[in-house]
Amino acid sequence: MTQTRSIIRGVGGYLPANCVTNDQLAQRVETSDEWIQQRTGIKQRYLAADGEYTSDLALAAAQQALERAGLTPADIDLIIVATTTPDYTFPSTATIVQRKLGMHHGAAFDLQAVCSGFVFAVATADSYLKNGLAKRALVIGAETFSRLLDWNDRTTCVLFGDGAGAVVMEVEHVGDDAPERGVLASSLRSDGHYWDKLYTQGGPSTTLGMGFVHMEGKEVFRHAVGMITDVVNSVFETTGYGVEDLDWFIPHQANKRIIDGAGHKLHIPPEKVVVTVDRHANTSAASVPLALNEAFTDGRIKPGDLVMLEAMGGGFTWAASLIRW
Ligand code: UT7
Repeated sequence: MTQTRSIIRGVGGYLPANCVTNDQLAQRVETSDEWIQQRTGIKQRYLAADGEYTSDLALAAAQQALERAGLTPADIDLIIVATTTPDYTFPSTATIVQRKLGMHHGAAFDLQAVCSGFVFAVATADSYLKNGLAKRALVIGAETFSRLLDWNDRTTCVLFGDGAGAVVMEVEHVGDDAPERGVLASSLRSDGHYWDKLYTQGGPSTTLGMGFVHMEGKEVFRHAVGMITDVVNSVFETTGYGVEDLDWFIPHQANKRIIDGAGHKLHIPPEKVVVTVDRHANTSAASVPLALNEAFTDGRIKPGDLVMLEAMGGGFTWAASLIRW
């Protein structure tokens, strides 16, 4: 008997060159390094340059993931870009990345689940691969989130940054006795009743514009830990694994206090939690793959490790995915 599974073949990431510290921000808006660090754990963020678009960030991350997988664009037949900040309303940023990779083949589309987008995209690609719709997928989380910010609103503009992360996923048909590897289970959730807790005040169909981010921070915070533990426990239940089996917990990087709260509630030792929010801030759909890329690049994640991805964001949406490396 054989089993069909989807594995991670390569990981990549990209951060724009322009690093902006809290002190630098405090020269533009009424805030302080002390407030930002105390409430969020953020020390700095990277911001895309003028003329540098989400597709450029996505492309750089994708190229690194491909190179590390030892593959070329010719090997890819599916591209999913999770983003809230597409280059254009349409066509999808995924098709722009496809063009920039020189591809005419395969399928490409964007996925919109805001900060949970990358985890939703991993689960989507996993399903496409296992069901024979594709063989190798580039799954990218990419954002120029800074462009959605009202730089006069200190309650939001200090929280976010730009960046991109990517993985190459591949389908494998192996014997039942092969060592476990790949995406083991995912849990995806949303509840649109919370839409106005975190949204842009505008869009193509409502205001014919883009709108800027509006967030009821305290309300998002209030729900975050419970929603994160909900999907993480659901994935543990499906797989039969538990916290004690976990090697790495890779949470969405919105706020260090939320990460600590979720880790505490789930009884995950802090040394198993990958944290980048201090340096990257909240890069929305890019935050989880950027953290994954960092832990892979510095050698923390090793073959055979059990890795839990999780995210929560606008919608609300929340999701987790358990991967055997
Ligand atoms: O990725 C999607 C998920 N998003 C999140 O997870 C974000 C969730 N929410 C949060 O992380 C937190 O709620 C925030 C970091 C956004 C805010 O932290 P908080 O502890 O909930 O602060 P607060 O909103 O209650 O604000 C406390 C005070 C207020 O002043 P008063 O009314 O107490 O006088 C704010 O006006 O801090 C003030 N404040 C600021 N002060 C300096 C708000 N923003 C700033 C700022 N600098 N940037």
